[in-house]
Amino acid sequence: MNNPALELQKRRSAALTPGGQQRIDRQHDQGKLTARERITVLLDEDSFVELGQLVRHQSTDFGLEEQRPYGDGVITGYGAIHGRLVYVYSQDFTVFGGSLGRAHASKIVQLQDLALQNGAPIIGISDSGGARIQEGVVSLGGYADIFLRNTLASGVIPQISAILGPCAGGAVYSPAITDLVFMVQGTSYMFVTGPDVVHSVTQEEVSAEELGGATVHAQRSGVAHAVYANDVACLEAIRTVLTYLPQNSEQQPAVKQTPQTSTGNQSSLESLVPQNPNKPYDMHDVIHILVDHHSFTAIHDQFARNLICGFARIGGHSVGIVANQPAHLAGVLDIDASVKGARFVRFCDAFNIPLLTLEDVPGFLPGADQEWRGIIRHGAKLLYAFCEATVPKLTVITRKAYGGAYDVMSSKHIRGDLNYAWPNAEIAVMGAKGAVKILHRSALKNAENPEALEQQFIEDYQEQFSNPYIAAEYGYVDEVIYPHETRERLITGLEMLRNKVLNNPRKKHGNLPL
Ligand code: HXC
Repeated sequence: MNNPALELQKRRSAALTPGGQQRIDRQHDQGKLTARERITVLLDEDSFVELGQLVRHQSTDFGLEEQRPYGDGVITGYGAIHGRLVYVYSQDFTVFGGSLGRAHASKIVQLQDLALQNGAPIIGISDSGGARIQEGVVSLGGYADIFLRNTLASGVIPQISAILGPCAGGAVYSPAITDLVFMVQGTSYMFVTGPDVVHSVTQEEVSAEELGGATVHAQRSGVAHAVYANDVACLEAIRTVLTYLPQNSEQQPAVKQTPQTSTGNQSSLESLVPQNPNKPYDMHDVIHILVDHHSFTAIHDQFARNLICGFARIGGHSVGIVANQPAHLAGVLDIDASVKGARFVRFCDAFNIPLLTLEDVPGFLPGADQEWRGIIRHGAKLLYAFCEATVPKLTVITRKAYGGAYDVMSSKHIRGDLNYAWPNAEIAVMGAKGAVKILHRSALKNAENPEALEQQFIEDYQEQFSNPYIAAEYGYVDEVIYPHETRERLITGLEMLRNKVLNNPRKKHGNLPL
């Protein structure tokens, strides 16, 4: 090398566009950013430091020795989001279709090790044809190396996946182990076996979009936690989500110091919940009034819409909100809602984010389908998650708290720290109508005017049980509060509980009912 500086410049420059302009143009034509552009959008300006830019594969099979692009199809490094350290890798579809060979995998593995050892979040951007076919089994080994590290890092550092192109075959299991999976409408898809294999095995005709596009994973499978219109929106959402999280499980989420206000008029909460317990209302309205100005970010908002999960700030404190949604299936707990809620509660608990539960739940969804598919096993996940959570737990019963769902939704009995109920709350084994039918079956059967008698029984039951005061007398709610007092109670509660210490018994790990 006659001129070392020139040689470095030449290699660095080649590493910036290793797939060539034509493939970059194709990427743009599809509405996708390049791997490098994605990192620029994701990170604070000029904060990215690249690692392994000059890595190349050493493979000689299938003529690969003729093509040895720098970077091996993935850009890895570290930088900052809102001034805080993060690690990022971004697969480059312009190089071997972003496929994963040995060198590519080693770069990701090195980054995972750094992220875990240094206690900072890692963001993986997937855009890949999967295992590099020419490299065979070493590429499968590379995936396994990544899966192992995803698992070891789970609950220690936040791991976020952006699926911004294909993600197929066993490759899907890396994002699936991470905390959050974000997809983009129209350009991203995930499946274990693609449409051709599906057709050859089951004769089903299904497009890639129908099989594993963003909509299907956001609404049906629950694999995707959120869907965005394009790459930029998705990457900006990752920046936002990270503001609620600490760097790792040893740290607390940052508290916003500037004075925080809510946009909502607190007294409007007084009339928000309808008098008629069978009338729905939108729990999002309650959330938006209670939280700091525009601070709510929903997770899984298109999946199991009968339960709302999301991050927000209240008086500057980061909270994870779990809320029954009376506007969808009356806010009932079913299998999907239980699994969604359980995963979210465990995520918050792992990263020291206090839980706020807003409760208006008529119970678990009855029916043969739910029983046969295992509502017992799945409902138990939500119960288990709330029971084991040691973060500050605040609960507000806005209306119904019936049956087993009363216990599950962060009740006092399972270590709720501050449990409030609004004056119209109904805390009972079941609703009045159902209870009367069981308690007074024979009296109603033999009555001359069963309708009038039933109405009388219902009114008696409501008078006796459909209120929060029996629970308050037992201390199962700490206080019955006017709705307009809620935000203030939550702020002072979060401050009071800031230094909470609660440890579960020592164990290798629990046996969550999977
Ligand atoms: C090597 C690959 C590749 C792969 C794509 N390419 N996938 N090279 N290994 N897995 C290359 C192509 O040869 C092409 O190179 C370039 O990437 C772009 O690919 P195209 O097919 O032109 O792009 P497009 O039409 O957009 O189709 C994208 C695609 C398709 C749907 C992803 O490429 C595809 O089906 N690839 C194979 C997917 C697959 O079956 N992977 C294995 C899955 S199993 P040139 O030089 O022409 O630009 C798996 C197991 C993991 O991953 C197990 C982990 C445990």
